[in-house]
Amino acid sequence: MKSVFFSRFFILLPWVLIVIIMIDIDSKRTIRAPVAGRTGRTQRTARTAGAPGVGGTHNQSALPIIYAITPTYTRPVQKAELTRLAHAFRQVPRFHWIVVEDSTARTELVARFLARCGVPYTHLHVFTPRRFKRAGMPRATEQRNVALAWLRQHRSRRDTGVVFFADDDNTYSLELFEEMRSTRGVSVWPVGFVGGRAYERPLVSGGKVVGWYTGWRPDRPFATDMAGFAVNLQVILANPRAQFKRRGSQPGMQESDFLKQITKVTELEPKANNCTRVLVWHTRTEKPHLANEPKHRKDTVVIEV
Ligand code: UGA
Ligand code: MN
Repeated sequence: MKSVFFSRFFILLPWVLIVIIMIDIDSKRTIRAPVAGRTGRTQRTARTAGAPGVGGTHNQSALPIIYAITPTYTRPVQKAELTRLAHAFRQVPRFHWIVVEDSTARTELVARFLARCGVPYTHLHVFTPRRFKRAGMPRATEQRNVALAWLRQHRSRRDTGVVFFADDDNTYSLELFEEMRSTRGVSVWPVGFVGGRAYERPLVSGGKVVGWYTGWRPDRPFATDMAGFAVNLQVILANPRAQFKRRGSQPGMQESDFLKQITKVTELEPKANNCTRVLVWHTRTEKPHLANEPKHRKDTVVIEV
């Protein structure tokens, strides 16, 4: 009798354990799911709003947050550009959009847009001094630096994240964010339609970057576009003085001048299948033709474009 009881007990035991483990995993998932979606916190100095992220089946709260920094300025295509970006960013889990307007105050258009865009965001602004608003001058230097300052002020050693500079005139594939998520130091990949070529890319050998395929100034130490790299948040925090520079920086050299301060070419982490796939394009939107805009007798209603 006793031996029958023991043999039954030992046959059932593994099954009971499996059921207990399954119930445990399931309850952990339901507890963590809402945390993954509760992105964005109200900040003192910045207007930050949260929106639920897109839920996946895996445990998203363990993923580092991607901080995408987008400098932007008022022009006819601005809202269309931001709309294209939001359509991609909205689908990326654990994503925080830092939008920095090149303006003396946050504009109504961008504030309204962000409030409804469905992406967790922080809305900042800084106006580029007039003397720097000339052809031949690097762009968005001050805006990117304000975003870096915000990160250094509002994030700490405890936060895991990846920082990426996402200009508003590019097109982003969703795969790009999957690639950059694992960035430990500084990662790199190809960018379409830059450097006077169909694409620029880091040349990789044995898993290391050994050079650059580019049609423009191959002498740049890091011959990449702003959209061609990402930096681990802890690298940004560990190098509190790393900034985009005005002094001595020429257009197109900002990326190199910045990366020089935080990494070495030999340390770069190649992404996108050893830098053989283009997952971001410098598409640039054509300036719309507005020659027939009425000067005086405008439309009967005011319509935001
Ligand atoms: C190229 C690079 O792709 C940029 O990353 C780099 O900042 C720039 O060169 C440069 O340093 O000159 P490019 O297409 O020439 O880009 O520049 P834009 O895309 O017009 O500007 C880069 C970002 O700055 C955009 O997100 C844009 O909205 C913003 N920007 C541009 C401003 O915030 N203010 C401006 O007056 C102009
Ligand atoms: Mn651009």
